[in-house]
Amino acid sequence: MPIVGWKGERARLVPPDRALHLENALTWLNDPEITAALKLNLGVSRRQEELFFDRIENRRENDFTWAILDATERHIGFIGLHEINWRHRWAVGGLVIGDRSAWGRGYATDAVRIRTRFAFGELGLHRIEGHTMNPAMKRVYEKCGYRHEGLARRKFWRDGRWHDADLYAILDEDWFAARVDQS
Ligand SMILES: CC(C)(COP(=O)(O)OP(=O)(O)OC[C@H]1O[C@@H](n2cnc3c(N)ncnc32)[C@H](O)[C@@H]1OP(=O)(O)O)[C@@H](O)C(=O)NCCC(=O)NCCS
Repeated sequence: MPIVGWKGERARLVPPDRALHLENALTWLNDPEITAALKLNLGVSRRQEELFFDRIENRRENDFTWAILDATERHIGFIGLHEINWRHRWAVGGLVIGDRSAWGRGYATDAVRIRTRFAFGELGLHRIEGHTMNPAMKRVYEKCGYRHEGLARRKFWRDGRWHDADLYAILDEDWFAARVDQS
């Protein structure tokens, strides 16, 4: 029986499983085009990826990571809520659609919406935030109801120079208000 996980309009978020998802992670995180806008862009070894899976396959108090499946059950990426702070009830989002053939088809948008629903509806978090310098990711945040909160100057060192990053965040109250409007 396939694992159902958390469903959106076209994507599903399922728990990470090294037997199914580790090889793709290794491929994607060693592809400079995929990691160009990621915080982790130095490449990873198989051993590092195994240790990463040791962590994410075990339930951790301050981190949820899922594999993203497309409409045909294909594994196309990863998404997570990281650095969860239970006192202030916020988390930092992370997302990679590693399969380039899946880009531009709304999967990131759907995955972020599923993650938002989970964070506010199930975990009772209050705020999710993320910095990005990827124009496509900025658009994804906007489509998902995140607000642009500012520009972090010279946040990332990349390719011999500093890059600014945009800060986006969504609050539970924004999300619940939008839900009431739609019902
Ligand atoms: C960024 C990323 C998550 C987007 O995934 P995706 O599945 O293609 O996203 P979606 O299809 O849901 O939406 C992408 C939107 O960005 C737009 N877009 C794509 N490239 C763009 C660009 N260069 N400038 C502005 N908008 C762009 C698309 O047109 C689309 O908007 P639309 O629906 O209004 O047309 C994916 O490209 C990725 O994982 N890249 C590598 C890792 C990464 O950078 N992650 C983000 C780290 S913060």
